[in-house]
Amino acid sequence: MDDIIKRVLELTNNINKWNYEYYYDDKPSVSDEQYDAAVIELKSIEEKYPELKSKNSPSSRVGGYVSEKFEKYTHKYPMLSLNNAFNQDDMLTFRKQIDIEDFDNSFIVEPKIDGLSLSLIYSKGILIKGVTRGDGIVGEDVTNNVLVIQDVPQIIKNDDEYFEVRGEVYISNSNFNRINLERKSSGLVEFANPRNAASGTLRQLDSNIVRKRKLSFFAYEIIGTSLESQSKKISTLKKLGFKTSNLIESANGIDDVMNKIRIIESKRDKIDFEIDGVVIKINNVKFHNLMGRTSKFPKWAIAYKLASEVSVTKLIDIVPTIGRTGKVTYNARLESVRLAGTLVKNATLHNSDYIKENDIRIGDYVSVKKAGDIIPKVIGPVLDRREVGVNKWDEANVCPGCNSKLMRLGNDVDQYCLNKKCELRKKESLIYFCSKVAMNIDNLGESIIRDFFDRGFIRKYSDIYKLDNYSSEILSIKGYKDKTLQNILSSIEISKKNSVERLITGLGIKHIGPKAAKEIASYIKNLTPSSKLNLEDIRGIGEKIEKSWNSWMKIDDNIQEIIELEKAGVNLNYISNSKSEKLSGLKFVITGKLNNPRTYYVGIIESNGGKVTSQISNSTDYLLIGKDAGSKLDKAKKNNITVIDEDNFEEIITKVSRP
Ligand code: IVH
Repeated sequence: MDDIIKRVLELTNNINKWNYEYYYDDKPSVSDEQYDAAVIELKSIEEKYPELKSKNSPSSRVGGYVSEKFEKYTHKYPMLSLNNAFNQDDMLTFRKQIDIEDFDNSFIVEPKIDGLSLSLIYSKGILIKGVTRGDGIVGEDVTNNVLVIQDVPQIIKNDDEYFEVRGEVYISNSNFNRINLERKSSGLVEFANPRNAASGTLRQLDSNIVRKRKLSFFAYEIIGTSLESQSKKISTLKKLGFKTSNLIESANGIDDVMNKIRIIESKRDKIDFEIDGVVIKINNVKFHNLMGRTSKFPKWAIAYKLASEVSVTKLIDIVPTIGRTGKVTYNARLESVRLAGTLVKNATLHNSDYIKENDIRIGDYVSVKKAGDIIPKVIGPVLDRREVGVNKWDEANVCPGCNSKLMRLGNDVDQYCLNKKCELRKKESLIYFCSKVAMNIDNLGESIIRDFFDRGFIRKYSDIYKLDNYSSEILSIKGYKDKTLQNILSSIEISKKNSVERLITGLGIKHIGPKAAKEIASYIKNLTPSSKLNLEDIRGIGEKIEKSWNSWMKIDDNIQEIIELEKAGVNLNYISNSKSEKLSGLKFVITGKLNNPRTYYVGIIESNGGKVTSQISNSTDYLLIGKDAGSKLDKAKKNNITVIDEDNFEEIITKVSRP
């Protein structure tokens, strides 16, 4: 708990400091992604431990500061912020919360311009005030500067005593580049990004400078009008002479909203201004009033943050890890950062040469990129942010697991731990054995395998199949419930029935990956402890693989392992998975808590030609239910769809083959 309190304090201090830098100084020291990551982490801790949430937590502030430089102005209506969505699930949650009976599913999807919000107050058609958001309640009166923004009309055709328009002030990318070039040649510090340039400019005391820098303005809101929809507001703003973004789209339903988000995202690098997201608003204003607001944001709108593909964050440590073959991979431990929609704390640094060539050092700010969508990688240091005292990095000389000297093989750039008894290597081999490409024991994840290895429950492959001997020890470990253990044991049980190529893959024999394993399995048909083979005839199998296989088969410990695995009931036969068509044309929906993972049932249904869908429709043939089946069961009953439980399912599938 002490650690958690420490983390809350650290996050609170950081966020407060970053807020100040962002809103007051216009000089943020961290990227938006790093800021978002800290807020998300703080919120999730506060959700779990509400007692740690202070009244002044930065997680519940609208954000923003009021400077002393300008006259203060109290907004007639507070200028709220927007709640964030980061993925489709967040959007579905947003949609679910619109619990309105006659909701028409009509949304307006607008680009979220990365500038700063501005309120314009007109009286009898004349612009009388321009005010920044400030802290949302009190803003700064920047009228003099607003009067020199060309996109802001000073006279509009409107007779109201009070008429307020809101929108975003920004600096176009081309303008931003021009300003920075000028600043550079005059020896001035450049602006970090267009948003900072816009914010710094709008809050200049000399409006001549503002005029020269050329701010732009997009309007997106009229306050206190009787116009019935957001689309009407946008068209009215246009008619009145305001600029509105031409990327605005209307959408019908959340699927369509997601399409429109993608359309706006695809135009992101073709437009001359920065957008950091997409704002989704319910179109009909009558529903805005029904939905209401929290103290921070309206419930009828949400900002879908567009993911950045590259983020900058601090490199806390460089840690060597040892793979199952003994190869060393260096990993970066990072200050957490949001990257392409996920929170990232670790990234790969490949090998020692990569780190040295790119002069990456512990303590550097580094750019991190999503590589092939899955594993993030460190691209390199941000050199102008390198601090004093950040020293050159030295490669590891010994294995962190067994202390044996790391070696390079021939001209290989990689370092290796060559000790076959190295415990780190053994753990990695077990993880690979259980992985998706091999035995696919999906409830026995990496951290559990490491834990069970350290406790001595699993030291070699065959121990996995004797894990039930340790049931009572496992149940006495904190965090292991009966259900967790049952899930682990049941996925181990299922894996016994795998066709033998999965086992061959899992054994991790050098040069024999899933493809070669399949060729070998379909040729030998069954694995025996004496499977010394002449593999010449097998397609795609060369001398290298044959040698590797035969020398592996000569080692007593390996033969003993095969005997043990067989004794434990692991299948050593090749099961051809040519597809059956026995369930062809039948559609299944699966719901509730079942005894096996969902993938088990999907596998059986699909390998017999059936289909699994997520929603019940008129064409559904069977609803397979487990415990606590909910609304789908009601729907199936209403639609006269055959409901089956696991026993019925077993009966049906005994007539068909398993995958
Ligand atoms: S609507 C109460 N629409 O995003 C809702 N905001 O994170 C008010 N922003 O403070 C905002 N483009 O500065 C809205 N098309 C857009 C926007 C937009 C940018 C900014 C605005 C707001 C912030 C919220």
